Amino acid sequence: MKSFKIAVFVSGRGSNLQALLDAQHKGEMPAEIAVVISDKKDAYGLQRAEQQGITNFFVDPKSYNDKKTFEDDLIKIVQEHQCQLVALAGFMRILSAHFLVKVGCPVVNIHPSLLPAFPGLDAQRQALEYGVKYSGCTVHFVDEGVDSGPIIAQAIVPVYSKDTIETLAERILLEEHKTYPKAISYLAQGMIDFEGRRVIVTEEKGSEMNG
Ligand code: GRF
Repeated sequence: MKSFKIAVFVSGRGSNLQALLDAQHKGEMPAEIAVVISDKKDAYGLQRAEQQGITNFFVDPKSYNDKKTFEDDLIKIVQEHQCQLVALAGFMRILSAHFLVKVGCPVVNIHPSLLPAFPGLDAQRQALEYGVKYSGCTVHFVDEGVDSGPIIAQAIVPVYSKDTIETLAERILLEEHKTYPKAISYLAQGMIDFEGRRVIVTEEKGSEMNG
């Protein structure tokens, strides 16, 4: 069977990339990470890809005159590697409508809060300062807004009185590492339908009917 190929975009340490690679290798995610792209030369995510023999590219945004030509090169890499999905994993750039239309495949992201609460930067700090008792992570489709696309999967974690940003981020990250491969598995297996902006996971539909 032809594999479902993914391009992963990173800007930093790449622990979610690692979780996806681990899930792929354990046979828990029926997909293949075909290429890793970073906009930061020193992103540890690039080293992880290199160590595991995954094709990887540093695409320097500073070497382009405008965002469109930078994004065109990202699109070229995604398409040359025949990817059917772009997975953002700590990629610290907003992709434009141009990218989302031209890339020709879905783009998904993982965010460290229960969206629509606390979009944007420092989601864990936002949650702690607001005083919520539960937070978590969200995997969602990327649209033109900031963390505003249809939600594919979420996981909840408690927020404790003694939490710091670091302890909360760590607890959320453990869930991110399980939730992202699971959500990508749904996509790889074509288990996703839409009802308006609601994402329906078809397996869940069946189990609801049974239960
Ligand atoms: C994660 O918390 C993710 O939710 C957010 O950026 C962070 C990336 O971490 N979008 P890592 O690079 O995957 O370790």
